[in-house]
Amino acid sequence: MYRTHTCGELRLTDVPNEVTLAGWVQTIRKFGSITFIDLRDRYGITQLLLGEELNKKLDDQPLGREFVLQASGTVQERSNKNPQLSTGDIEIRVKDFTILNRSAVPPFTIQDDTDGGDDLRMKYRYLDLRRNAVKRNLELRYAVNRAARNYLHEKGFMDLETPFLIRSTPEGARDFVVPSRMNPGQFYALPQSPQTFKQLLMVSGYDRYYQIVKCFRDEDLRADRQPEFTQIDCEMCFVEQEDILRMFEGMIKAIFKDVKGIDYTEPVERMSWEEAMWNYGNDKPDIRFDMKLTNLKSPLKKEGVQRATGELIGGAGFGVFDNAETVVAIAVPGASEYTRKQTDEITDWVKRPQIGMQGLVTIKCNADGSFKSSVDKFYGPEKLQAIAASCEAKPGDLILILAGREERTRKAISELRLEMGERLGMRKKDEFRLLWVLDFPLFEWAEEEGQPGRWVARHHPFTSPKPSDIDTMISNSPQVANQEEYLQHPYAGIKANAYDMVLNGNEIGGGSIRIFQRDLQEKMFDALGMSREEARHKFGFLLGAFEYGAPPHGGIAFGFDRLCAILGGSESIRDFIAFPKNNSGRDVMLDAPSTIDAHQFSELQIKLDLK
Ligand code: AMO
Repeated sequence: MYRTHTCGELRLTDVPNEVTLAGWVQTIRKFGSITFIDLRDRYGITQLLLGEELNKKLDDQPLGREFVLQASGTVQERSNKNPQLSTGDIEIRVKDFTILNRSAVPPFTIQDDTDGGDDLRMKYRYLDLRRNAVKRNLELRYAVNRAARNYLHEKGFMDLETPFLIRSTPEGARDFVVPSRMNPGQFYALPQSPQTFKQLLMVSGYDRYYQIVKCFRDEDLRADRQPEFTQIDCEMCFVEQEDILRMFEGMIKAIFKDVKGIDYTEPVERMSWEEAMWNYGNDKPDIRFDMKLTNLKSPLKKEGVQRATGELIGGAGFGVFDNAETVVAIAVPGASEYTRKQTDEITDWVKRPQIGMQGLVTIKCNADGSFKSSVDKFYGPEKLQAIAASCEAKPGDLILILAGREERTRKAISELRLEMGERLGMRKKDEFRLLWVLDFPLFEWAEEEGQPGRWVARHHPFTSPKPSDIDTMISNSPQVANQEEYLQHPYAGIKANAYDMVLNGNEIGGGSIRIFQRDLQEKMFDALGMSREEARHKFGFLLGAFEYGAPPHGGIAFGFDRLCAILGGSESIRDFIAFPKNNSGRDVMLDAPSTIDAHQFSELQIKLDLK
């Protein structure tokens, strides 16, 4: 037997038992004739005390960091207790030890604050995984996995696997492809998600499906994106949007409870996509803090609200506002005391290429009710007061205004809002606020360089329009010549039966009620510019299935890695994946992707002709 206990297990109540431990040498400290060793395993650290009688053996068989050691001895009370360790009251008075394996000197120290840079840690990820910080993240990941499974199992969901070697599924990214040796010249695609399979399972009558499943997307990577990532993927039949929202906010709340001990009893807030864009500038607002936008001028329309006309700021001869498509503002609470240096610094921040604005207008709302702005030349005190009133700014606030093209400006102000929230400590890591964003547009207009514009599905092509919009969809031709026509086209107003779940400003899940009628699905493919023949070629299996009694159905998929990262207080999902890829999509440990052998090419009958 290698061990009787783990390194995290022994307590005072185990004194004076004989035990055997096995683990990795964390540290070795020598005090005169006595040697202390911290022995580590997944469960903790236990101090070993090696007396004088073992010195000869230690000289003959010297130990080093990360050696694998087995030690037997007696549990005894420690004279110098360590309250930081769960085993800190005891130590093992070692009678004998065996070196089970030696270790080379690790390239970085295996401790919480390591000296290893990112690349080095990834190259030796198996050593990095020994560190507490990483281990805690993986433990949290497993806890989330268990909580989700328990909840879904209790609700009658069945975990069903779906294949990885498939045909392309359109989720908006590029596919990873795999050549087929047995079918030369033909390729599988790795699934961007199991979307079509889960819909087929509904047609087959498995009315509650789930899978914690890998998805593969060849897209530009960021802190919250990996080329292979994991979804909690779910589908149900005989459901409406409301059923799905309730079922899955239940799941997230169960995860909160099990993993974080948080009782999230209040209902999850809901917001339409229009409201989110209007008030926060993006479709995944962080609602842990307020600081809503004021739309001084914008072509965006919000249902029930007249669009911002620019009346308040126009006609003052300030070209930046007069010529801008969009002018939007936020009132930053208590920031009127910012120095010139601080406002200059924020101006530089919005000018960074990632944000891409030309400049920033500031209005300080002084405590005495007066105003000081960077546009005093154009706007007198009364005008400034009127702008401040429309921004609902209070004395002591600092108003920040951005102007420019609609899309970029709205995105920039939403980033600026998050940045100011961060600087003012309003985005607390231990506070969790969930939000459903609803009523997305079904279509978007996409214009790629050199290509004619076209409709694309905002979620994916299997998403159903709202029932009230189905007629509009069926009875109109999707033909449009340009963006102008697109804005006027009835399709631009069609709302999707789709929903996203947002946690602290991150999209953690998204789904929709699906189209389940063949004619509507065909109409959708028409709208996306797919010929009937192409649609039948690519999705004949689904269109066919819709002819054999497809039930109404809908579902959702959660970004499992993202959810774990946020619950663990990080925005980088890499820290929550055992073997992640770097930002160029490389596994630096395996050195993948890599070239393959010539004989593999010849087996596949592929000739490489790199441009
Ligand atoms: P969607 O594409 O919105 O929907 O994906 C669902 C969730 O998966 C997460 N996610 C990612 N996480 C890490 N790295 C990535 N590259 C990545 N891409 C997406 C996000 C996202 O909310 N089949 C549909 C779901 C459905 O309609 O049921 C789908 O995949 O958190």
